[in-house]
Amino acid sequence: MRCAGDECNPSVGVFRKSSSVSGPAMSVTVVVKNGASTVGEGPHWDEATQTLLYVDILAGDVHRWNSVTGQDEKIHLDASVGFVTPCRKGGYMVGLGKSLAHMNWEANAVTNLQEVDLEKNTRFNDGKCDPSGRLWAGTMGMETKPTVLEHYQGSLYSLEKDGTLKTHLDKISISNGLAWSEDNRTMFYIDSIPRKVYAFDFDITTGEISNQRTAVDFGGPDTIESLGFPDGMTSDTEGKLWVACYSAGKVVQFDCETGKELRSVEFPAKKTTSCCFGGKNFDELYVTCAKTGLTEEEFQTQQPLAGSVFKVTGLGVKGKPIKGLMIHS
Ligand code: BGC
Ligand code: BGC
Ligand code: CA
Repeated sequence: MRCAGDECNPSVGVFRKSSSVSGPAMSVTVVVKNGASTVGEGPHWDEATQTLLYVDILAGDVHRWNSVTGQDEKIHLDASVGFVTPCRKGGYMVGLGKSLAHMNWEANAVTNLQEVDLEKNTRFNDGKCDPSGRLWAGTMGMETKPTVLEHYQGSLYSLEKDGTLKTHLDKISISNGLAWSEDNRTMFYIDSIPRKVYAFDFDITTGEISNQRTAVDFGGPDTIESLGFPDGMTSDTEGKLWVACYSAGKVVQFDCETGKELRSVEFPAKKTTSCCFGGKNFDELYVTCAKTGLTEEEFQTQQPLAGSVFKVTGLGVKGKPIKGLMIHS
């Protein structure tokens, strides 16, 4: 699967909707057409190499898209892979099945560090490093079809720099997006099934979270069609949240103080799963989506770009690099 930047599919280079804000022209382009065959997820911009890492969860694949050459490489692992994040001292951390593992891409070697949920039928889903380089990752029950699963089977964990595992929350249904405020005093976290973005007081030194409250409520069943399920997210340097709305084909910017929708970007694929800022200036938003759950006919006739990675430019906001996990130090 290779395609060079915007040449890939110029016909989708349109910004389809902005509910507010005029400003520089926004555009959505495909950077990797059909990069994922199942659940494209967990985009992560690797500043050092100007590559975009992302996963194809149920295929067990980790992808690395080089923004300079346009090449998309992948490596296949022997279980589902919920997230990938680079380590400071080399290699990557992955959520592999129910394990947190270190992966050496060149050697194609995986070392399991911790296994969780021993008695449960779960898998790792989204994971990310906090601004101190501590890894946070959560689990979810296995789905019989997308968003259909036994609830409350998941938990949220952190892996400390010394390799210790901590359990922070249990009874989670689909552990998903993670983000931190600019002053590092608030952590945001999504459980997709109650359709809420939660906020916690965050202590960056101890890695403890407390005082859970709801920052954004996606609402009752009547809003599922328009907003879908909150999935992956990121924050911009103005402290606003960008949340991928699974099954609604959009990423919405929310004000986490008021919980209000500020604007949205629409995509030509419904199962938008996650987003991150990247590019040389961290002012491009990269967005993944899933193909799983579509019939071959739906894929061919309605959502031929499902599984693709999109790039949004001209939003007029920026993100910032995520620190790598300091492990094996
Ligand atoms: C296989 C993948 C499969 C995954 C499911 C892996 O062992 O290689 O193709 O989707 O397991 O978790
Ligand atoms: C999970 C999918 C799930 C979706 C729902 C994703 O993070 O990997 O399996 O269907 O969230 O929003
Ligand atoms: Ca996700």
